[in-house]
Amino acid sequence: MKSVNFLLAFVLLALASSLASAYDPSPLQDFCVGINDIKTGIFVNGKFCKDPKLATPNDFFFKGLNIPGNTNNLVGSNVTIVNVDQFPGLNTLGISMVRIDYAPNGGENPPHIHPRASEILFVQEGTLYVGFVTSNPNNTLFSKILYPGDVFVFPIGLIHFQVNIGKTDAVAFAALGSQDPGVITIANAVFGSNPPINPDVLARAFQLDVKVVKDLQKKF
Ligand SMILES: *[C@@H]1O[C@H](CO)[C@@H](O)[C@H](O)[C@H]1NC(C)=O
Ligand SMILES: *[C@@H]1O[C@H](CO)[C@@H](O)[C@H](O)[C@H]1NC(C)=O
Repeated sequence: MKSVNFLLAFVLLALASSLASAYDPSPLQDFCVGINDIKTGIFVNGKFCKDPKLATPNDFFFKGLNIPGNTNNLVGSNVTIVNVDQFPGLNTLGISMVRIDYAPNGGENPPHIHPRASEILFVQEGTLYVGFVTSNPNNTLFSKILYPGDVFVFPIGLIHFQVNIGKTDAVAFAALGSQDPGVITIANAVFGSNPPINPDVLARAFQLDVKVVKDLQKKF
C-alpha cells in the first residue's frame, strides 16, 4: 500500500511539473500591462536581450560592492542594489545581490517584503538580529542573532528585517532569487502611498486613532 501511495505521489508530482512548464513565465517586474498597438510603446517581461554576438565580458561584471553605503539616514542602513538595472548581464538569470550596511546601535533594514524572491544573507561584519514572520493565521516570528560568517534565509514573500545590535558597523551581503526581486517596505507602502490611503481605512486596520495615522502619513 505504501509503495502504491509513493508511486501515485511520484506520478502526480511528475504530472504537476510537466504542467508547470506549460504555464506562463513568472513576472519579472510589478506588472506589464498589455497593449495592442506596439507603436505606443513596447516592453517585455524583463528586458530586451542584446545580440549575443555583441556581448562583452563587462556585461557580466559589476564593480563597487566593496564600497560602504552611507547609513546616515532615519533608519540607519543602506542597501546597495545589484539587480538587472545595474547589471544587465543578469537578465533572465533569476539572481541578483545586495550589500547592506548598518549603523551601530540599532541601524536597521526595516520590515519589508521581496515579492519575487527568497533571500540568502551572509554576515561579513558585526552582529545582526534578523527575522521573518510567516503568513496568516500563525504569523510566527523566526528570528536569530547572527555573527560574522553566519547565513540566514528569508523565504519569498514574507516580511523580514535585520537590525545591527552591535556597537560597531555591520555589513552583510545577500543573494536573491530574481533579477528584480522588488522591495515593499511595509511602513512606506502603507503610510506613504501616493496618493495616501484614506486614514479611516488605516485607523481601523491598525486599530489606531485617526490622528496617529495622519501623523504617520506625514512621516512617510
Ligand atoms: C546610500 O549610500 C549611497 C552612497 O553613499 C548614497 O548615495 C545614498 O544616498 C544612500 N542612501 C540612503 C537611503 O541613505
Ligand atoms: C499554525 O498554528 C496552528 C494552531 O496553533 C497549528 O496547528 C499549526 O501547526 C501551525 N502551522 C504552522 C505551519 O506552524
